[in-house]
Amino acid sequence: MSHRDIDLEQLSAGVVTPVADEQERRAEVSLRPGTLDAFVGQRELVRHLEIVLGSARARRQSADHLLFAGPPGLGKTSLASIVAVEMGSGLRITSGPVLSRPGDLAALLTDLQDGDVLFIDEIHRLSRAVEEVLYPAMEDRRLDVMIGRGPSARSIRLDLPNFTLVGATTRTGLVAAPLRDRFGFIGQLDLYDVDELAVIAERSATLLEVALEGDAATIIASRSRGTPRIANRLLRRVRDFAAVQGHPVVNDAVAVEALELFGVDEYGLDKIDRRILGLLCGQFANQPVGLTTLAHACGEEPATIEDAYEPYLLREGFLMRTPRGRVGTEKAYRHLGVTPRSGGLF
Ligand SMILES: Nc1ncnc2c1ncn2[C@@H]1O[C@H](COP(=O)(O)OP(=O)(O)OP(=O)(O)O)[C@@H](O)[C@H]1O
Ligand SMILES: [Mg+2]
Repeated sequence: MSHRDIDLEQLSAGVVTPVADEQERRAEVSLRPGTLDAFVGQRELVRHLEIVLGSARARRQSADHLLFAGPPGLGKTSLASIVAVEMGSGLRITSGPVLSRPGDLAALLTDLQDGDVLFIDEIHRLSRAVEEVLYPAMEDRRLDVMIGRGPSARSIRLDLPNFTLVGATTRTGLVAAPLRDRFGFIGQLDLYDVDELAVIAERSATLLEVALEGDAATIIASRSRGTPRIANRLLRRVRDFAAVQGHPVVNDAVAVEALELFGVDEYGLDKIDRRILGLLCGQFANQPVGLTTLAHACGEEPATIEDAYEPYLLREGFLMRTPRGRVGTEKAYRHLGVTPRSGGLF
């Protein structure tokens, strides 16, 4: 059997999805940039962060609370651990869905050491009751604990150590306004450009001891949907392909052949992207489609479509958002090789 006989749909499943499963998150740890210097791109955010952290260090205080927002795989978790490294502090990691009761958060807060960084991933998923514990903690380093029940119940106040809360979310709009207002700095991460992703692919190749030659890094980068996580994943798949095929180095031809084998097209669009565009330019041609309808038709959650797929399709000009819904662009019709019906949008 040649590699051309392998089931492509099966192989390409998940190759360019921006979200990661647990196994991939573990594999990512070794490729994570450890310092701000090693963090590629997001120049403006990094410059602002250097100022915020530098001034806190000069005052010998904890940095302001920080919120990082942006699509999956762009470096929010990496930045949280970089903040701890740059401040020389301990890092405690938790997430919105894990902190189900106020007591869970109270236990974490009272266990912090002076100066610690507390990272809450998916902070938009905190329950209201847990959020209310967070407000005085963020503002006055104060924890109000209720003891007892009924008429004998009373509240005691505990002082907390200095700490910096770092929150991450896929969209700032999902974070309740009172919580958002308590962050001193909100960093919005944007999709990366091809040059930045090529630098990331080169750096990861060195760490993984993969020899990239010619434009291989750029070929990988241009199919990574603006997302470092995908660049690293494609690099690992290309490495696997080269190993199986007995190529000691990855040149342009090996990179292209590997990526084609995994069903990654020259824009890095995957099955779901093609399904989205296929629906917009086929079944729903010439009519704007609501997010929920689109998500149902693709068998995905609306939030996944909005957070993980749309940003790249929008940036690359395959999709437009209109007040009445999403529409496919001329570029999408062209890419799919579909002729827009007459009387349509173009
Ligand atoms: N600016 C960067 N420079 C170098 N590598 C990066 C950068 N940003 C992200 N990466 C790489 O991409 C991987 C994914 O990044 P990270 O886990 O920080 O993303 P995330 O925004 O937290 O994603 P999610 O929303 O899914 O939690 C990291 O392991 C790291 O190797
Ligand atoms: Mg993360």
